[in-house]
Amino acid sequence: MTVYDFDTVVDRRGTNCIKYDQAEQRGYRKDILPLWIADMDFPTAPEILDKLHNVVKHGIFGYSQSLDDYYEAAANWFRTNFGWHPEKNWLVKTPGVVFALAMAIKAYTSAGDSVLIQTPVYYPFYEVIQNNSRKLVENPLVNINGHYEIDFEDFEKKIIENDVKLFILCSPHNPVGRVWKVEELQRLGEICKRHDVIIISDEIHCDFVFPEYRHTIFTQACPELADRTIICTAASKTFNLAGLQISNIWIADRSLRHRLKREVVNCGYTEFSIMGIAATQEAYLHGQEWHEKSWEYIRGNFDFLRGFLSEKLPQIRLIEPEGTYFAWLDFSGLKLDRKQLNELIVQKAGLWLDSGHIFGTASEQYQRIVMASPRALIEQALDKLEKAING
Ligand SMILES: Cc1ncc(COP(=O)(O)O)c(C=O)c1O
Repeated sequence: MTVYDFDTVVDRRGTNCIKYDQAEQRGYRKDILPLWIADMDFPTAPEILDKLHNVVKHGIFGYSQSLDDYYEAAANWFRTNFGWHPEKNWLVKTPGVVFALAMAIKAYTSAGDSVLIQTPVYYPFYEVIQNNSRKLVENPLVNINGHYEIDFEDFEKKIIENDVKLFILCSPHNPVGRVWKVEELQRLGEICKRHDVIIISDEIHCDFVFPEYRHTIFTQACPELADRTIICTAASKTFNLAGLQISNIWIADRSLRHRLKREVVNCGYTEFSIMGIAATQEAYLHGQEWHEKSWEYIRGNFDFLRGFLSEKLPQIRLIEPEGTYFAWLDFSGLKLDRKQLNELIVQKAGLWLDSGHIFGTASEQYQRIVMASPRALIEQALDKLEKAING
């Protein structure tokens, strides 16, 4: 069994990483402690690093492609971890999930068509809809005493009223941390089928599920809807490879697949990063142990956070996550308005978090913290917060 080190704080400054190196451009102090963007402060798995070193040693970075081996590695990951059996011809690679969402919106809808999302949600969902001149329709999730639930009546009503063509599901959900139950997915599916809505299921966080819960791939819950579903996955979150720019989109339906592929090709995107291909393939082949250990460590960060809040900051409530590496924190106990809360976090505490309002207007009192960092950084951030609040 390999021992992995997640405790060492690696200095990321000066590496062109958005998390640290863009603070000043974005109006923050240079020394702010950032826990906002969804990447990890850990180096990726040593197995993947070895593979990348070999690619570098070889030294030729020409146009690259990998079909059978790449598919086999990815498919094996999903078979082993989820009992899901995606077929080879379903796979469409894209340089990212957000890119795929934008392409799918173009492929399956026309300007002015309605696209539905469940808010609060990952903010690029808003951008890809609105930037492509589609109508944004919201089905707000309902926070019932700290547990977010789907309002199915509102979901169907919004679909009918707006003649919704496309639904983008976030599963598990960023930022509220829900891992949707089979019955919930099935109810969503039934409604989409009834009203001829195409479903894009963004499952990029599927590998981060707490032990008491189980992630279900959308078409496992609704196999009969495979002809109207697009499943988005990537190794980028799981193995901290976002900068290598590759994601895997699985589309069982031939016509839907071809429409998406045409859109990607029409953008002139036909080749993929040699590093992205090598790293993803290696991750899915040999990354299981690293993933399990890193996720265990992150769950330990959540335990630390829980203990810290209950002891020192009981005014702040953690929305108990079922999945994802995000802590979604409710600050309404402090009774501050949005400006005051921002001032507290940024100016007084010196923290750069993701402010709740960017995920949805009803979430002004929330902040999202990415927990995929060495414990020392999480401790430092919470100490800063505690001092800013308690003085
Ligand atoms: C739900 C969700 N989808 C997609 C992404 C980004 O995917 P990509 O970097 O592949 O565009 C993120 C990143 O945080 C995310 O949370």
